[in-house]
Amino acid sequence: MKDKSKTCLTGIKPTGMPHLGNYLGAIKPAIEMANSEDFESSYFIADYHSLTTIYDPTKLNEYIYEVAAVWLAMGLDPNKSTLYKQSDIPEVMEMNWILSCFTSKGLMNRAHAYKAITQDNLENKRDADQNINMGIYSYPVLMSADILFLETEVVPVGADQLQHIEIARDIANAFNHHYGEVFTVPEALVRKDFAVIPGLDGRKMSKSYDNTIPLFLPEKKLKKLINKITTDSQPPETPKNPNDSLIFDLFKLFAKKQEITDFDEWYKKGIGWGEAKAELFKVINRELEGPREIYNDLMKNRHQIDEVLVQGRDKVRPKAQKFLNEVKLKVGVK
Ligand code: TRP
Repeated sequence: MKDKSKTCLTGIKPTGMPHLGNYLGAIKPAIEMANSEDFESSYFIADYHSLTTIYDPTKLNEYIYEVAAVWLAMGLDPNKSTLYKQSDIPEVMEMNWILSCFTSKGLMNRAHAYKAITQDNLENKRDADQNINMGIYSYPVLMSADILFLETEVVPVGADQLQHIEIARDIANAFNHHYGEVFTVPEALVRKDFAVIPGLDGRKMSKSYDNTIPLFLPEKKLKKLINKITTDSQPPETPKNPNDSLIFDLFKLFAKKQEITDFDEWYKKGIGWGEAKAELFKVINRELEGPREIYNDLMKNRHQIDEVLVQGRDKVRPKAQKFLNEVKLKVGVK
């Protein structure tokens, strides 16, 4: 029997250094969950999902290490939860095929992510299918294989992934309808994402707006980026409104209660933007400096990352093999 109440699993797509918005909205809550006693959690690096769009081998390989190092540096404990790499479990691919035979094409046609690319193509007067490979089209099937082969009960995801979990449920039900209760039907646990984390220009922090603060930068670069936050030309002594200040909004996400109160008062008395930015740098850097050191150390000693991933693979693969066998028996290929 499981000693923890629920099995939970989530995939992390390696696509480059995460930024502060990713950290606060996804990584931090996921690590808290992993370290809590309520879940038996597995996290994996969804490298085959990245291959749908990243065709540069050096980059993809670098991203895999980066994302693993970020999660480990931020406190994911590989002894409390499992961290592995999707491509280390080839059984997922066999499962992927079996599941795709229970996935109606119409279901894939309706997937938001795919539809968005088609839409964009049409709006720009391109062929509807331009730049859509089969990996992108059947992305949700592979995701279902990730989830279903580990008999996952709970999948913590951001709201943008909710439809994918619903698709996994549909596929599991379609299979179970023919063969009995083989697959556990997973449930999504949608994170109440932090009220949008603002980026350097005040819009939502997002790579596509080029306004992000990457998680691990050398201190000097972090300081420089923070200094780029746009401010108005009010002189230091003018009282300022903390509720209408990007610097204050970001500060609140990293500061302690008392620090927020003090900062609030300083604003109302009059604060110089340079001073405000220096305070913001201090609180962000305080939270990141320890993990940054671990991160840099891991990236210089990648065998340590490999060891964690091998340990994860060795834990997961026997389960995957056993379960795949059961499924193969059910469908009659064994
Ligand atoms: N598609 C997810 C993302 O873009 C990553 C992912 C792949 C995933 N497989 C998964 C998430 C299985 C949850 C469960 O972030």
